Amino acid sequence: MRSLIDIQELSVEEIDNLIDTANDIIDNPQKYSQKCKGKKLATLFFEPSTRTRLSFEAAMYDLGGNVLGFSEAQSSSSAKGESVSDTVRTVGYYADIIAMRHPKEGAPMVASMSTDIPIINAGDGGHNHPTQTLTDLLTIKREKGRFDNLTIGFCGDLKFGRTVHSLIGAMSRYKNIKMILISPDELKVPDYIKQTVLEKNNIEYYETNSLESVMPDLDILYMTRVQRERFFNEQDYIRLKDSYVLTPEKLIDAKDDLSIMHPLPRVNEISVAVDKDKRACYFKQVKNGKFIRMALIMMLLGVE
Ligand code: NCD
Repeated sequence: MRSLIDIQELSVEEIDNLIDTANDIIDNPQKYSQKCKGKKLATLFFEPSTRTRLSFEAAMYDLGGNVLGFSEAQSSSSAKGESVSDTVRTVGYYADIIAMRHPKEGAPMVASMSTDIPIINAGDGGHNHPTQTLTDLLTIKREKGRFDNLTIGFCGDLKFGRTVHSLIGAMSRYKNIKMILISPDELKVPDYIKQTVLEKNNIEYYETNSLESVMPDLDILYMTRVQRERFFNEQDYIRLKDSYVLTPEKLIDAKDDLSIMHPLPRVNEISVAVDKDKRACYFKQVKNGKFIRMALIMMLLGVE
């Protein structure tokens, strides 16, 4: 059975198909309301979540399926010391597909080797988050109508931000993409991503500390939260947490058709005053997340 651990496992054509399906679900939800009747999705969340878990659950319900699972490690046998492999092997006897979030990088990959049912990586530590990327791609397609010829600014915690890592991977497969990586020195994109993704694909990119100086160049601004839970010490987090705060004033020189994105949750990095700006897309992302997950669940379960 096929799993989704890393966004690069999906070809560009498969992503196009998922986006077409998601758009069709948005237009004709009734057509899909029984597609997964009798199927069960298990959500195994060893880390906090609002959007990812609930959009997976809503997605399965809207496909006519059912949902089981847990939303914190403490309420599962992992609190007794059970391994991820044993937990997943167990759930594999009860469910048809698993969406799993875990603080350890690689845990969903290990899980996929412990069961025959598909595993969807719903975020593994500071590593990857492929279904947020599908959500982001659907949003980009609906807002911009294309994936080529875009200048994307990633801003904030580019070191630990798993949504950033996955979206960089996905976007580096399209033509004439330029990436501007805006972060404090301590929170730059990891070298392994620069080498194995950006440089390998000859992506034009540059790093800067200054959001204001690059604002006029951007077609997309992807803001992110400083990932407090990944820091080794609280002092560093406190020093870096407010490195960037997007306000209406900072958008004065931005393009009229800029798309402001954020995977959410936001803490302080986008002022609520920006929510009224027609360029703010982050709640559209939230909405799109359910539809693309419906398309993905159908694909991995082999539902026509
Ligand atoms: C993101 C995550 O969990 O990585 N949230 C999400 O899934 N929408 C981003 C974050 O937590 O900052």
